[in-house]
Amino acid sequence: MTQKVAVLGTGKIGEALLSGMIRAGWAPGDLLVTARRPERAEELRTRYGVTPVTNAEAAKTADTLILTVKPQDMAALLDELAPHTPADRLVISGAAGIPTAFFEERLAQGTPVVRVMTNTPALVDEAMSVISAGTHATADHLAHAEEIFGAVGKTLRVPETQQDACTALSGSGPAYFFYLVEAMTDAGILLGLPRDKAHDLIVQSAIGAATMLRDSGEHPVRLRENVTSPAGTTISAIRELENHGVRAALIAALEAARDRSRELASGKKD
Ligand SMILES: NC(=O)c1ccc[n+]([C@@H]2O[C@H](COP(=O)([O-])OP(=O)(O)OC[C@H]3O[C@@H](n4cnc5c(N)ncnc54)[C@H](OP(=O)(O)O)[C@@H]3O)[C@@H](O)[C@H]2O)c1
Repeated sequence: MTQKVAVLGTGKIGEALLSGMIRAGWAPGDLLVTARRPERAEELRTRYGVTPVTNAEAAKTADTLILTVKPQDMAALLDELAPHTPADRLVISGAAGIPTAFFEERLAQGTPVVRVMTNTPALVDEAMSVISAGTHATADHLAHAEEIFGAVGKTLRVPETQQDACTALSGSGPAYFFYLVEAMTDAGILLGLPRDKAHDLIVQSAIGAATMLRDSGEHPVRLRENVTSPAGTTISAIRELENHGVRAALIAALEAARDRSRELASGKKD
């Protein structure tokens, strides 16, 4: 049986998902999209051959609804969807910080909801998407969500209680690496290198290190020890990182991100 999937609110994340699904083999004819602006809907039709519909049509027609509007637009979208969404639709939320209960309260009793926290490397098919089941979502529903988000990277199932921690690690994670690259590039400039050369050196080092972490199966401590020779350059740098409390700063930073995610999920906006 053909399963129709609709992406509702097809912005940056929605489009990354859509293009990944098509590359992974989904037929554009089975994919519906919704957008707020007609020109955006036409752009998606031209670019991918998918069918733009209204939110209500998507709810009536598609088996799976993937909601990728901004968190602040979600309540209005659910108000629009609720009268048209039968309880057998799988609703997948890609919005940061909104609990599955928020959807369950606004949709028909028994609607299966799956919450997914992905991250921006979805744009380059290297996402880390963390997936949790709502009250009525079954193993099949989770598997379907994994199949969809697997088109743009890796997926991991976690209990919903761990979503705030995962937001701190992988949701915001790419930003910490961008910040590190920025700081290390500044250091390169201090050491006398032109900005573009410093940038290239650091970015390629980051790609190399990430590839080794992913592919070697080695613990990061072992990988670091391998390049830390007695009385060498690396240990001199590591001593300064420890002196400046970088490890403690990272632990505190991720704890702060987790706490902020909890606040946002509970409705506290400022
Ligand atoms: N970007 C990230 O880093 C990131 C990472 C992880 C998760 N997320 C989550 O992904 C979701 C989308 O983020 P994004 O960065 O892709 O945002 P985005 O580019 O603004 O995409 C959202 C799209 O939804 C459209 N929209 C809003 N209300 C609508 C409605 N009622 N009907 C149809 N379309 C509607 C918006 O239209 P307009 O263009 O007219 O505003 C926009 O095109 C968010 O919930 C966010 O929490 C984002």
